[in-house]
Amino acid sequence: MGETGIGVPDRLRMPGRVLAALVCPHCGGGLGGDARGGLVCPAGHSFDVAREGYAGLLTGRRPPTGGDTAAMVADRRAFQDAGHYAPLARRLAALATAHGLGDGLAADVGAGTGYYLAAVLDAAPGAAGIALDVSKYALRRAAKAHPRAGAAACDAWQGLPLRTGSVSVLLNVFAPRDGAGFRRVLRDDGALLVVVPTARHLDGLVGPLGLVAVDARKEERLERTLGDHFTTVHTEELDVPLLLPHADAATAAGMGPSARHIAAGDLAARVAALPDPVPATASFRLSVHRPRAA
Ligand SMILES: C[S@@+](CC[C@H](N)C(=O)[O-])C[C@H]1O[C@@H](n2cnc3c(N)ncnc32)[C@H](O)[C@@H]1O
Ligand SMILES: [Zn+2]
Repeated sequence: MGETGIGVPDRLRMPGRVLAALVCPHCGGGLGGDARGGLVCPAGHSFDVAREGYAGLLTGRRPPTGGDTAAMVADRRAFQDAGHYAPLARRLAALATAHGLGDGLAADVGAGTGYYLAAVLDAAPGAAGIALDVSKYALRRAAKAHPRAGAAACDAWQGLPLRTGSVSVLLNVFAPRDGAGFRRVLRDDGALLVVVPTARHLDGLVGPLGLVAVDARKEERLERTLGDHFTTVHTEELDVPLLLPHADAATAAGMGPSARHIAAGDLAARVAALPDPVPATASFRLSVHRPRAA
């Protein structure tokens, strides 16, 4: 039981217009603040607001998997704060504004720290944003990523807790992709921006550090997941030369999928054997997709 319409709960670091786009993951109803400082829908489904300011919209239907650990998020944050992926952030911001973000809502699915969402909002002064992720460690950071953004916990495979047609630009950077779900939340004139690694990603580190290599069929899979719901209107590749001090080379390994497979001692020994700094390449494929007519 709970009242709705009390407004934005004190602890929720989220502009009112972003809260207005969120819906209850159980019934799709709107969400408002309740008397205990949480969120509630008209049917009485209630949700916590985390101390760090994000909305906890996980349904608990099954234990979420795949969320980044505290160590992975810390490494990702350090690597991004060092500016190594700034060229990608700049390019995403340019694509988001060129493809009609305007004063609309940007949603970042699998947002991690919210780094790319923040860059996009910096480039679009009238826009607002929502960072969605399953990892509480990522969300703690994402909740503070930008004054015009909020963050919410959800499992992207169980439906996005966003109103149908509420999103102008949806970002998906190295994160889970559900074509049907993305299509539902996007406006008909909206755009989906996807970033995947190319086969050259982290050349210079993958071999010597024994990192998980990029799956060459990734592009094919991307086409399959999105093809029923989207038309690809633009594709480009971005290669970023990196010169990484040893600490940053270790961070690059720690923030990716290999983090779960390599023992810390092994990684340190492999990094120590590299030149310092070590040259490497970050290599991304960016694509823009427009919703197909329903
Ligand atoms: C490789 S990281 C990318 C993070 C961010 N987009 C970036 O590039 O900095 C993948 C992100 O997806 C999140 N994730 C994994 N499975 C998820 C799921 N089922 N629902 C929502 N987020 C998920 C992880 O917690 C992690 O933050
Ligand atoms: Zn509900």
